[in-house]
Amino acid sequence: MHREDFPMFKQDLIYLDNGATTFKPNSVIDAMNDYYKTYSANAHRGDYSISYKVDVNYEDARVKVAKFINAEPEEVIFTSGATESLNIIASGFFDKLLEPGDEIVISNAEHASNVLPWFNLANKHNLVIKYVPLDSNLHITLDAVKSVVSPKTKVIALAEITNVVGDIRPIKEICKFAHANNIFVVCDGAQSVPHKKTDVKDSDVDFLAFSAHKMCGPTGVGVLYGKKELLESVEPLSLGGGMNESFDSENEVYLKELPQRLEAGTPNIAGVIGLGAAVDYLESIGMDTISIYEQKLKKYLIDKLKEIPYIQIINEEADSGIVAFNIDGIFSQDVAFFLNKYNVCVRAGNHCAKILKKEVGVKNTVRVSLYFYNTTEEIDDLVELLSNKDKIIKEMI
Ligand code: ALA
Repeated sequence: MHREDFPMFKQDLIYLDNGATTFKPNSVIDAMNDYYKTYSANAHRGDYSISYKVDVNYEDARVKVAKFINAEPEEVIFTSGATESLNIIASGFFDKLLEPGDEIVISNAEHASNVLPWFNLANKHNLVIKYVPLDSNLHITLDAVKSVVSPKTKVIALAEITNVVGDIRPIKEICKFAHANNIFVVCDGAQSVPHKKTDVKDSDVDFLAFSAHKMCGPTGVGVLYGKKELLESVEPLSLGGGMNESFDSENEVYLKELPQRLEAGTPNIAGVIGLGAAVDYLESIGMDTISIYEQKLKKYLIDKLKEIPYIQIINEEADSGIVAFNIDGIFSQDVAFFLNKYNVCVRAGNHCAKILKKEVGVKNTVRVSLYFYNTTEEIDDLVELLSNKDKIIKEMI
């Protein structure tokens, strides 16, 4: 679908690494270029026309993002990406809230950005990290979450879709259970927001983090969503221009209201405008259309891979377009290297989910991560290449 919108497809590439980043459509590139070429001023600082235009477009992007996830505009904070958002949540909100012995619940299938900020807090305050067990299909159930929660649990931090095994977690049910037990829920939406409809009011999640570049937007920009009353008590980790109302030589600082309070310094203006254009673009296709198409494509891929006897699919029951596999006796990076010779881009390795090995037994995999612009023909080409093991062995180095 919609391949003509993406300049990258002018090259002879089969791009199957959308979990890492996605291609950008012309509308996103044009919106960013237009900013740089025709109204390249700073935001929230100028009293002249082009600066006013920046303010309007920057804040318009915030409104678009808010509508996209069903939040209020002041609940959308622009950051450098999901990683920064999760760090702000951990260090700006939970750092002052958690006490020695308190428990943080995550899973072994989390990506580094939803593990390391919690490890950091745990080491600093003597907190306990608990892991939700995955079932035999590598999914997380509400019962599994309940099995590790105790009266000391203060936060459950999970990706809605994991970046290696592609399962969709029951975030809404988890929130309902967590809130009934006074537990906060942090959702890493990096792999879910680009692929399925997100509604923070419906799920009732407390915080959500995601990145623009995995949803057809630019790199270096992302979102921290938080319920307004929670964001109001987030400690700004960066202090500087744009976020203070005033300060004097007696060290008195008066901070602005949300969202500016959490956006110090000159923001990534082109990035935010590009993210707004990416939201417009995805909305024009429709998030439901995107998820339904990706489901069909994923099923097609898994059915084809299952026909190859020496391929071990790690997550045959994947809910999303993320499929991880290995070829018997061949190191995953050698498979990726071989595929690259035929312009097929996949990711190989541990995919930054370095403790997932505990659950799946293997450290490294080949990962195909699909998006709406991928096709069954591309999958056929991939499968044809994977179907000749002798050729892979011969050409992998
Ligand atoms: N989280 C990104 C990936 O899964 C980087 O590739």
